[in-house]
Amino acid sequence: MSAVAALAKSAQSDFPGWSRAARERVELALDHVLPAAVRSPAKLHEAMRYATLGGGKRVRAMLVYAAGEWAGVGASDEGIAHLDAAACAVELIHAYSLVHDDLPSMDDDDLRRGRPTVHVAFDEATALLVGDALQALAFEVLAKSSAAGRVAAQVTLLASASGSLGMAGGQAIDLDSVGKVLAWSDLEAMHRAKTGALLRASVVLGATAAHTPTDLQGAALDRFAAAVGLAFQVVDDVLDVETDSATLGKTAGKDAMHDKPTVVTTLGLERAKALSHSLHGDAGHALSELGGDARRLRDIAEFIIGRSF
Ligand code: IPE
Ligand code: IPE
Ligand code: MG
Ligand code: MG
Ligand code: MG
Repeated sequence: MSAVAALAKSAQSDFPGWSRAARERVELALDHVLPAAVRSPAKLHEAMRYATLGGGKRVRAMLVYAAGEWAGVGASDEGIAHLDAAACAVELIHAYSLVHDDLPSMDDDDLRRGRPTVHVAFDEATALLVGDALQALAFEVLAKSSAAGRVAAQVTLLASASGSLGMAGGQAIDLDSVGKVLAWSDLEAMHRAKTGALLRASVVLGATAAHTPTDLQGAALDRFAAAVGLAFQVVDDVLDVETDSATLGKTAGKDAMHDKPTVVTTLGLERAKALSHSLHGDAGHALSELGGDARRLRDIAEFIIGRSF
């Protein structure tokens, strides 16, 4: 089946069908861009594949595809190929961030996606290098596939979301906050950076893959992305308290164990849950203003709020 036919088929199906198709698409694309495990240096390549393939909800990839569908990018094989590349790029950055997040010098976790973390299954130096290499690969994949004239904007967007003013900066604040009580505004800024920035970039990469949205659309997309980006980490903090390790596929109760300020310690459980619902409302309002077929973006916002893993 051609890519366009596959998209058309998945576009008709319900959200579980659509999200399964999106997960399968990005899994195949990731499998394709990652070097074979037997290729030298084999240990590094095997660990890169271990860190990236066969797990994860693929929410960031879904946001790329959904925003691309809203923008009409997926209507051509070339557009779909670019969405695949952008989806790979955000999942590669995300996988690298998880490998480093789990390191003994960061959250010191031994379970991720239901399996031993990379530094446990391999070793710590390999986990560092996996992160380095996945990050480089993300930019290579995105730069190679972006339409002429859009490469710089797409790469810059991903770089800002990943760097010291985005994910890496948020992680730095997270580590620096251990044992502290943070004001809500500081915690919110940390969560928007460490998690929100990459989710926001996923939306914008998909929406701008082929065309530049109008200013009004751009503002609505940004409000949507900011709301779901923050909501994602709010729910993650709640799940850390309320769900068990087997369901999460990662160690539950880790935030309290490490004395991390979270949405739950800052606002309390009930207000944290209420916040996730109000952010869901904000996301919905933003989509009403966005117009067009934003059905899948709406579905993903719902999934993010209602998820139990
Ligand atoms: C976990 O992200 C780390 C956070 C940013 C909260 P996900 O919950 O998206 O992890 P996977 O990709 O599904 O494993
Ligand atoms: C991590 O936040 C955010 C990243 C940038 C990876 P957490 O430390 O809460 O993520 P989990 O709970 O380990 O997945
Ligand atoms: Mg962490
Ligand atoms: Mg962690
Ligand atoms: Mg967490």
